[in-house]
Amino acid sequence: MEHRFIQGEEHQPVFVLLHGTGGSMEDLIPVAEHLNSDASILSLQGEVLENGMRRFFKRFPDASFDWCDLEKRGEQLLDFLKEAASMYQFKLSDVILVGYSNGANMAINLLLKEHGNRLNRAILFHPMYPTTETRTANLADVSIFASLGVKDPIVSVTQSEQVIALFADQGANVTQFWTTGHQLLQNEVEKARKWLKQQL
Ligand code: MLT
Repeated sequence: MEHRFIQGEEHQPVFVLLHGTGGSMEDLIPVAEHLNSDASILSLQGEVLENGMRRFFKRFPDASFDWCDLEKRGEQLLDFLKEAASMYQFKLSDVILVGYSNGANMAINLLLKEHGNRLNRAILFHPMYPTTETRTANLADVSIFASLGVKDPIVSVTQSEQVIALFADQGANVTQFWTTGHQLLQNEVEKARKWLKQQL
């Protein structure tokens, strides 16, 4: 998988970066450096092309998720993360997923697959996860920071609340921060940075 790895200091987290639709693996690197300049960074590039725009999984023409594709690519991404952990010598439990929009949605899929002692922390900027599946996992070890928009043109307030409920109802520790639209703004990065300091 196309990626960029930046080695950080010892005993610091590893940010796994997942960009939004139409983005690239370069997009979130300045955000990660602001979150914690000592951390390692593994920035990934989505392999799906939608009208030339990169994404982490396919969606249908009406913009609904192709859940089969999301499941398949989530598994592949997880396999890649395990390979990368051995190649770059880090532990999955040191990973903090950082995703924006489509990348945040993939991060949710990874967390739900691999929570427990392994992947259990994420910063989700403007996620949506409109599943009707009733899950009954114990997510007590999971901590997430989510930023959401009250007037987000892509994610409705109901869909944002659904993401919060998906985690909170299963015992995860959820910190939410509401902004206006879908854009990733400095103030939410700042809030995420404060949240991160409390996690370490
Ligand atoms: C998605 O498809 O993941 C969401 O609709 C967000 C987006 O990428 O526009």
